[in-house]
Amino acid sequence: MNKTRWGILGTGTIAAKFALGLRAADDAELVAVGSRSRETAEAFAGEHGAARAHATYGELAGDPEVDAIYVATPHVLHRENTLTCIAGGKAVLCEKPFAMNAREGEEMVAAARSVGTFLCEAMWTRFLPATRRVRELLTSGAIGEPRQLDCDFGFRTELDPKGRLFDPALGGGALLDVGIYCVAYARMVFGSAPAQVQSTAHIGETGVDEQSAYLFRYDSGALARMSSATRTETPHRVTISGTEGSIEVPDFWQAKELIVNGERERHPYLGNGYTHEAMAVGEALAAGALECAEVPLEETLEIARTLDELRGQWGLRYPADGAIS
Ligand SMILES: NC(=O)c1ccc[n+]([C@@H]2O[C@H](COP(=O)([O-])OP(=O)(O)OC[C@H]3O[C@@H](n4cnc5c(N)ncnc54)[C@H](OP(=O)(O)O)[C@@H]3O)[C@@H](O)[C@H]2O)c1
Repeated sequence: MNKTRWGILGTGTIAAKFALGLRAADDAELVAVGSRSRETAEAFAGEHGAARAHATYGELAGDPEVDAIYVATPHVLHRENTLTCIAGGKAVLCEKPFAMNAREGEEMVAAARSVGTFLCEAMWTRFLPATRRVRELLTSGAIGEPRQLDCDFGFRTELDPKGRLFDPALGGGALLDVGIYCVAYARMVFGSAPAQVQSTAHIGETGVDEQSAYLFRYDSGALARMSSATRTETPHRVTISGTEGSIEVPDFWQAKELIVNGERERHPYLGNGYTHEAMAVGEALAAGALECAEVPLEETLEIARTLDELRGQWGLRYPADGAIS
């Protein structure tokens, strides 16, 4: 079996989790890491068993021994880092949110398509066995027609004005950090963009959303009720109510079990769960695909447009959005 030779761009929290996830994937190996400094690159490479440590992201993008790069930097850098990797001819798995706004996302997708390079948003929940099972259940009609989704993703963290969760310059805010999981789940369940979006948000002292709630209506009349927060812990639960039953997904973003029409099902994942997105990329590359069927690029862009619409309703703009014309 040809293993996908991975490089990781950035050495923070999720970069370390992805490195751990790769260890449980038979078809993947971590070969290189890129950081803003040689010291952190070498420390990460030593800890996670990467053969090469690059002192710049550009060097990693140009490493001929790397097939695919996982972009694990703060949101505001996803566009720039992804474009660098595409220019280096690398397949890219870019952390969520794919981009700061739909316009950036469209530019990234266009760049990948222009050179025929693989690109995918690392919406890892989509690749988990439990989430795949939810899709199977919906397709097979196990709960009839889905009519309502309830989904929340809120956690409580201390206010850190310079941290990436609160600093507007780093793309702070709950919607782009965790609300995107809810918006993406709704897209998966209902299979289209919402026809109507209504929402309200509490914008905190650093100028980004600390808590919000949003309601989507679809053409069919189905509804999705969602919320996200960075200063309030919430249950992290999905409930899909259909005409003939329901699916509950405890801890939906890292789901290991479902309750289907009252019956509990267990769906453990490999490694720490991040293994599955890496394996899906490996399979897509082996098949010569330029995107992953689980998270198609058009869907990523559609979700980005919905996030833009929500932020528009709150008047929340980031430097990446540019000046209001
Ligand atoms: N899928 C998931 O479960 C999940 C979970 C958490 C986060 N994420 C996503 O992953 C991305 C990174 O999140 P994280 O929690 O890993 O962040 P983090 O711990 O702050 O790490 C980000 C890394 O990016 C690099 N970086 C480059 N410029 C930076 C800057 N100006 N400030 C801070 N770091 C900078 C740094 O690596 P170097 O110093 O090596 O360059 C840093 O270690 C975010 O977009 C987030 O939404 C996804």
